[in-house]
Amino acid sequence: MKAVGITPRKPHTARLVELPEPKVGEVPNGRGVKVKILKVGVDGTDKELHLGEYGAPPPGYDFLVTGHECFGQVVEVGPKVKEFKRGDFVVPTVRRPGGSLFDTIGTYDMTSEETYYERGINLRHGYLTEYFVDDPEYLVKVPKGLQHIAILLEPMSICIKGILQAYEINRRLKVWKPSRVAVMGAGPIGLLTALAYRIRNLETVVFGVEKRPYRNAELLDEIGATYYSVQDRPLAEEVKKNGPFDMVFEATGFSPVVFDAMSALAKNGALILSSVTGGHRKCEVEADRLNIEFVLGNKVMFGTVNAHRGYFEEGLKDFAMSEAAYPGWLTKLLSHPVDGLENWKEQIRILFEIKDCTKAYLNVAQPEA
Ligand code: BGC
Ligand code: ZN
Repeated sequence: MKAVGITPRKPHTARLVELPEPKVGEVPNGRGVKVKILKVGVDGTDKELHLGEYGAPPPGYDFLVTGHECFGQVVEVGPKVKEFKRGDFVVPTVRRPGGSLFDTIGTYDMTSEETYYERGINLRHGYLTEYFVDDPEYLVKVPKGLQHIAILLEPMSICIKGILQAYEINRRLKVWKPSRVAVMGAGPIGLLTALAYRIRNLETVVFGVEKRPYRNAELLDEIGATYYSVQDRPLAEEVKKNGPFDMVFEATGFSPVVFDAMSALAKNGALILSSVTGGHRKCEVEADRLNIEFVLGNKVMFGTVNAHRGYFEEGLKDFAMSEAAYPGWLTKLLSHPVDGLENWKEQIRILFEIKDCTKAYLNVAQPEA
């Protein structure tokens, strides 16, 4: 079968490669599920992969099949699979377990090992191909009524993990009722995070670089979030005017923003860091002030990467809520579809050239009835 592969750590090496079609028997104990790939999305991580800044091939290969945002349909199950049947819609998770305690209890997104395995990113082939076979543990069933937006579930799982872990961490407070939250960045992760906050009925302010007219700002209007361009109203100014934030979700990909966000936190507040910044940027900070504010205000800042299946399942609930509260809104994020695996080059072009793109995805195949 055909797949799109790259040579990781070398810029712009994408090409068509051949892989044998996988068989359900490849997963031990009759637990294999064969999935036909229907859609594959791309994001900033794919950009870094194409630029040669990130990623590694699986052992024994000189290429990595890319694609970690996937939606597919079950075509065959092994004899011991009870959870799925032919025709079911699924979204696969990205991480695969290593050997730490966290990996063995299903929280492979929290591995304490240096090496991590991520399909389409690091040491495991991804989904930009025709079929894959996996264990049911890594497949999340998507109800028919949400199949049209399921390609957004992997990025949504990242947002949900960050938010739910903030609540989990702040159980230390006995009572924590955040009311005002900020999102740094109005890209796909920023938009999905804002949605998750609005579904939780939080006053949500999103900061981005672009000035209006800006499509993402209009999308935020539709869900009752406030958008500010930092060119008109920087974060610090908003804090001065309307007060600090109980939670700040950082999703700009620009690490200096982290230190501004630290200053924007209310007492007992939580700062969620989600940007994967592969570079070597340096900046000067007011260390004493930032430190004392954190100490005297009992604040927390934590990093969050990837997501295990529980957060994908929670993300589906948010999608259902979103369709009820803001019908059709998520569909508007699906801005740049491309039809056919053979047109993979066009998807990469969109990824690099289109500024207003909220999601570029490839329609690899059509679902069966
Ligand atoms: C993916 C995550 C992954 C992270 C770091 C993101 O783009 O969505 O699944 O953990 O990159 O590799
Ligand atoms: Zn991603």
